[in-house]
Amino acid sequence: MAYDVVVIGGGPGGYACAIRCAQHGLRTALVEERELGGVCLNRGCIPTKALYAATRLLHQTSSADEMGIAYAPPAIDLAKLAAWKERVVSRLTDGVGVLLEKNGADVHRARAKLEGAGQIVLSSGDTIDGERIVLATGSAPIEIPGFGFDEEAVWSSDDALALREIPARLVVIGGGVIGLELATIYRRLGSAVTVVELLPEILATVDLDRRTLATLKRALKAQGIDVRVGTKAEGFEAAAEGTRVRLAGGETLDCDRILLAVGRRPNARGLGLDEAGVSTDERGFVVVDERLATTADGVFAIGDLVPGPMLAHKASVEGVALADAFARGPSTSAIDVDYERIPQAIFTDPEIASVGLSESAAKADERATLVGRFPYAALGKALGMRESEGSFQIVADEATHRVLGVQIVGAEASDLIAEAALAIHHDLTLEGIAAVVHAHPTLPEGLKEAAEAALGRAIHAVNRP
Ligand code: NAI
Repeated sequence: MAYDVVVIGGGPGGYACAIRCAQHGLRTALVEERELGGVCLNRGCIPTKALYAATRLLHQTSSADEMGIAYAPPAIDLAKLAAWKERVVSRLTDGVGVLLEKNGADVHRARAKLEGAGQIVLSSGDTIDGERIVLATGSAPIEIPGFGFDEEAVWSSDDALALREIPARLVVIGGGVIGLELATIYRRLGSAVTVVELLPEILATVDLDRRTLATLKRALKAQGIDVRVGTKAEGFEAAAEGTRVRLAGGETLDCDRILLAVGRRPNARGLGLDEAGVSTDERGFVVVDERLATTADGVFAIGDLVPGPMLAHKASVEGVALADAFARGPSTSAIDVDYERIPQAIFTDPEIASVGLSESAAKADERATLVGRFPYAALGKALGMRESEGSFQIVADEATHRVLGVQIVGAEASDLIAEAALAIHHDLTLEGIAAVVHAHPTLPEGLKEAAEAALGRAIHAVNRP
């Protein structure tokens, strides 16, 4: 079988690329050895968000007494919760299959390996040819010395999302995005949670300002999540009851499960990359140029497999931009993706979302800026939702007033960041945001007020001289 494009990997990067290639009329195949939808749909973003919503409900009802509404203590049917989460996942993965089919892309359910110029051998025994090949095989959780996923006591994020049990005591190793999102979920399910982070700060790989992190740390503490920064986990052993984690310096932590969330590595092994002439860097990422072309002719790579933020929507925009570039024909120009303006949403409580430059990154760049802030506590909608914790922060260029970055920490921040992403993508100024009429009472009013505050003219907050 010969195709114009063969995409290897059916996650958000790969399936979006294949659908867009097929829409362009290119003969397209997608090869996937597991379920369509990749980590995001099956073992990442989507199941996490389903559990985030379910456990948020637990949290909200547990304190509804303040509003004069009393519930009996909730009973959690773990098997039913897991089954519901699976239904959410399969609706989406089935949908991806339908979209590929309706757009005319062939799906091969097999493992693929590169074999010489333009040839791919499938584990089914078939060989397919692709004039262009797109590698989109994603990433997998990292293990560290002393903590192997083959040990029963050690969970990967996949194990945590499988929802087999609620450990009475959970130690999370890694205070990054995955560690903190799952810490939030398990705390709400009732586990006593301790997070152990090697670096002096949590979420160190994300460009966040001190104030944003301070709000989150306060909230984590209030929820009873014990966060230990500057602490290295060295190993573990069986204890009289459960498991004992050894920390550098001799301290120990007793627990029932350990969740290891210390980062992810690209899935570059077993693809025949060396033989095909596809180079990888010292960390195992596939080396690509600004066209997302690898060092092998006709082979491209996207998503978690290449350097850059490991985000589903980053992989998708790369996949679609690459497909559009294929449709335009041979090109020497860079792919049409603005890496500086990719938003990120973190599902902790409160949520954190950001796009563009942080205040500290702008300072490090020696840019003269205007900064505006607005608290959730001054938003009527937030108060009625009992979500007064949080703030909006907007950073703009002092001379042009062009918006450089926005950080939101608070309820629904993951949805609220879309307006900021739109503003930054279209080079809007503070006045450009402030001029937009925002419906009242809503949470997005906070962004408008933050823009006004940067201009020294907020209505619902005291402006600083
Ligand atoms: P991460 O890189 O965000 O965090 C891992 C943390 O583990 C680091 O802070 C590191 O210092 C720490 N660590 C390493 N070794 C340690 C040790 N021995 N003891 C204690 N701490 C140790 O990686 P994470 O959370 O696994 O996420 C992987 C990737 O997936 C990230 O790029 C993340 O942005 C992305 N992701 C994004 C999501 C979102 O945007 N909502 C959701 C899930 C993942």
